[in-house]
Amino acid sequence: MVATPVEKKYEIKDISLAPKGKQRIEWAGREMPVLKQIRERFAKEKPFAGIRLVACCHVTTETAHLAIALKAGGADALLIASNPLSTQDDVAACLVADYDIPVFAIKGEDNETYHRHVQIALDHKPNIIIDDGSDVVATLVKERKQQIADIIGTTEETTTGIVRLQAMFKDGVLSFPAMNVNDAETKHFFDNRYGTGQSTLDGIIRATNVLLAGKTIVVAGYGWCGKGVAMRAKGLGADVIVTEINPVRAIEAAMDGFRVMPMAEAAPQGDLFVTVTGNKHVIRAEHFEAMKDGAMVCNSGHFDIEIDLKSLGAKATEVKEVRNFTQEYKLANGKSIVVIGEGRLVNLAAAEGHPSAVMDMSFANQAMACEYLVKNKGKLEPRIYNIPEEIDREIARLKLQAMGIEIDALTPEQIEYINSWTAGT
Ligand code: ADE
Repeated sequence: MVATPVEKKYEIKDISLAPKGKQRIEWAGREMPVLKQIRERFAKEKPFAGIRLVACCHVTTETAHLAIALKAGGADALLIASNPLSTQDDVAACLVADYDIPVFAIKGEDNETYHRHVQIALDHKPNIIIDDGSDVVATLVKERKQQIADIIGTTEETTTGIVRLQAMFKDGVLSFPAMNVNDAETKHFFDNRYGTGQSTLDGIIRATNVLLAGKTIVVAGYGWCGKGVAMRAKGLGADVIVTEINPVRAIEAAMDGFRVMPMAEAAPQGDLFVTVTGNKHVIRAEHFEAMKDGAMVCNSGHFDIEIDLKSLGAKATEVKEVRNFTQEYKLANGKSIVVIGEGRLVNLAAAEGHPSAVMDMSFANQAMACEYLVKNKGKLEPRIYNIPEEIDREIARLKLQAMGIEIDALTPEQIEYINSWTAGT
């Protein structure tokens, strides 16, 4: 057993759930061929020998494969949840029981426990932090400055986390390199769009069992995640309205065939609202007032700040659980509003997050970004780095190979053509 500065080896729901977790982790592995190849290489090359690593991720079957790959590469890895509601307790149990990976994560943990786990992660004295939303890095920078000297670097998975890292850099407090996994093409084109698109609707359907065909669905935000949600909702027969604050994205949404309008105008029309903006109080008091009786709201952005649940609570005369992960707020105006997944990431709260096939590429980026940090230890400045194009391309090549898809290669004549400027009309 690896000696770690953290004495307690885990804090999970129930270790006896491990066999169920093992079965589900193995199932996910069938759709994760790229990460499997990386794990096999790591097992031979041991790039993380002597490295203490903390991963703050949604504890899912897919994250299990990432943690196992890092451990195979020699990392002394510890895992905590990046969201209080997203942990799959059987997966946490299996990682502890079968892989000897310390896990501190329980589905439904309160905020105090969540933040205590962040502190435990830092007690592990990490050299590398894999973050999903930047809570570990933000806590390190705010409260554990003395540990910064141990840090080789961090990798960040989400748009939200990258925005926070950019703010840290601007404030001059980012004093180690950060790899921007989110903006790798093999990450956000697939995970944010097809992953969020499918898993958000999966969460809504599992929680409510409502028919989406014929419903008016309001998607707030038309970034890569919003594009995915809107596209899949349209595919299921919904009438989709998009709200945006970015004029370019608003044009894009209109030309993709969606109605675009402000939230105040959409509020009385929507049957179901999905926020995917990364910003605060996108749905707030005045919007709840205008909504139809029985309107449903949920969030698929990283933090639970997009829907102003406090103001909804203040208007409510009664709140009751109507199904798992589904609460009905009865308002003083006689109408009711249904909140799915407590305003937290609905795809992870009420379903299982993005499917394994997209997480395969996201976590291949995470694994290779960690390896890049170790290989370049001491050579990188304290700033945010994009994933090198060779890594992105290599992941795409491995994925295509696994999918059995071949593509063309440039002919010598084409290479010469695109490298010259002399030939014109
Ligand atoms: N983020 C979104 N979906 C996920 C999943 N299945 N595993 C880990 N992180 C995720």
